Amino acid sequence: MRTSLLSVSRSCQAVHRLPQNTFVSPTSSLSRHQRIAVLRNSSSHSCEADRSFYVTTPIFYVNASPHLGHLYSAVTADCAHRYKLLRGFNSKFTTGTDEHGLKIQQAAEAAGKDPLTFCTDVSERFKHLFDSCNISYTDYIRTSEQRHRQAVTHFWTVLCDKGLIYKGSYEGWYSTQDESFLTALQVENALDSSGKEIKVSLESGHKVEWMKEENYMFRLSAFRSQLLDWLRGNPRAVQPEPFHHAVLQWLQEDLPDLSVSRQRSRLRWGIPVPGDAEQTIYVWLDALVNYLTVAGYPDKHDRWWNVAHHVVGKDILKFHAIYWPAFLLGAGLPLPQAIYVHSHWTVGGKKMSKSVGNVVDPLERSQMFTTDGVRYFLLRQGVPESDCDYTDNKVIKLLNAELADSLGGLLNRCTAPALNPAQVYPSFCPRSFPREREGRAVVEDYDMLDAVRSLPAVVERHYESMHAYKALEAIAACVRKTNGFVQRHAPWKLDRRDGEDQRWLDTIIHVSLECLRTYGTLLQPIVPGISNKLLSRLGVRPGERSWADVNFLPRYQGTDCPFEGRALGEDCGVLFTRLESPNLDKQKPKKTKTEISK
Ligand code: MSP
Repeated sequence: MRTSLLSVSRSCQAVHRLPQNTFVSPTSSLSRHQRIAVLRNSSSHSCEADRSFYVTTPIFYVNASPHLGHLYSAVTADCAHRYKLLRGFNSKFTTGTDEHGLKIQQAAEAAGKDPLTFCTDVSERFKHLFDSCNISYTDYIRTSEQRHRQAVTHFWTVLCDKGLIYKGSYEGWYSTQDESFLTALQVENALDSSGKEIKVSLESGHKVEWMKEENYMFRLSAFRSQLLDWLRGNPRAVQPEPFHHAVLQWLQEDLPDLSVSRQRSRLRWGIPVPGDAEQTIYVWLDALVNYLTVAGYPDKHDRWWNVAHHVVGKDILKFHAIYWPAFLLGAGLPLPQAIYVHSHWTVGGKKMSKSVGNVVDPLERSQMFTTDGVRYFLLRQGVPESDCDYTDNKVIKLLNAELADSLGGLLNRCTAPALNPAQVYPSFCPRSFPREREGRAVVEDYDMLDAVRSLPAVVERHYESMHAYKALEAIAACVRKTNGFVQRHAPWKLDRRDGEDQRWLDTIIHVSLECLRTYGTLLQPIVPGISNKLLSRLGVRPGERSWADVNFLPRYQGTDCPFEGRALGEDCGVLFTRLESPNLDKQKPKKTKTEISK
């Protein structure tokens, strides 16, 4: 990456030569205060009331096979979807592939395939990866589908009818790799691999070309103040905060109108402009509408569109937090409730990407480390605010420490026949672990109970803001405390023939199993397979695994525990097998090209 946190392009370009016409913004007759209220209302529809939730991943370009960075976007959104389901929401979760545009057209040509066949092949690879990694999408959209073409055509017509699109002429830099227009300030000189001088995008390093053509322009400039109002009135519209701040900064700069079509002679692979067969709709406008298509646009999108949440990588923030809201405002549609932004996975300090040649294959890694292992690693190590460097050794160390040793070891200890010969959820003895602190439990044990009791609220806060790594940090800390509790009291040293020891031993195991049940329930959005194995081993039935079921250690509060005395589930082996091969760290970039793509 060339720049740090916000290594995303800094403004929205397009030089238009035609004069502004008499367009009147849909809310320009309102006072500033009123406009904020309108925008607030439109974007803060109460999802708590109808308990519906709609989360999207970006749709993935099919010019190359999926890599680990793509899987990260998908796992982040999957975690949000699974979490909402656990909370009893009706959740819709979509992903899919972005198949039009020059980049794909050229990739298909290079592969000697017709574009649709080429797209189908790669789209299937993404789908296969997501299915293998338990990405529980409820819809998979391809922009080459008919339902999408209808939605885009309709959307375009609405913008046109509102006077927001006009014929103009664009002259400026274009990056095909990013499918993005750039100003002179956003490009720099560089040398390609043969030493020839070229221009590249400052932000991505991708080659840019000068283009001059007649096409359609969108009146982006007319939306600057409404976008500012939206962001200022909704401080959580773009999260985490540094990205919100960045968008506000971009909006301080010039916001020229945006070219939203290309000449058909140059770009054949795309949706034609309605009523003008000589022009093709700009791929980003086409792609962004996918979120509406899946929601049921143009006839029946309200239910889902009112509760839309987008997960996006920071490289595509400008498209989602400026272009997309402007298009939506123009079309008279509500804005997304939130845009959650994440940073990048790097290898050797460089953003993982095909053009750099440093991609990590997620399917291969999920075979090496298991699907849940890869999911756990990505969500435990990935920090939305900052880039994270990938190595296999980091994965091995983390998974061995936290899944195999800490969590798996705890389950193993508490369910092993030596300590639990009856293979039941043993009884809790209030006299051994009384609230009055006069039994055998010590002060650290009470601290542990406090920590685990407050864990669901802590985890909830972090899942809600898509900071899964903080949720996992908190869970891992509690798992360590529970291991400490078992270690401290060494139940294997207690004498089963002594009534009091026996009751204390059962209490230790009961408390530990309650901790494990809590961890297993809270971990479901992250590692569904491991959670299922853990909860099944504890004898927790599928209908007892929701957020509301957590209710940690009711016996300590003096109420019944439904699990007490219940037989444990079948022993299906260790929770997570330790990973060997310490020497796996081979993923230096396979071929270290310059950052410049050809
Ligand atoms: N097709 C557009 C998105 C259109 S959405 C209307 C696109 N596709 S992409 O395939 O290039 O990227 C899809 C997602 O993968 C983005 O969220 C992007 O940030 C993410 N990642 C691509 N490389 C990545 C890393 N190296 N690390 C983390 N995520 C990265 O952009």
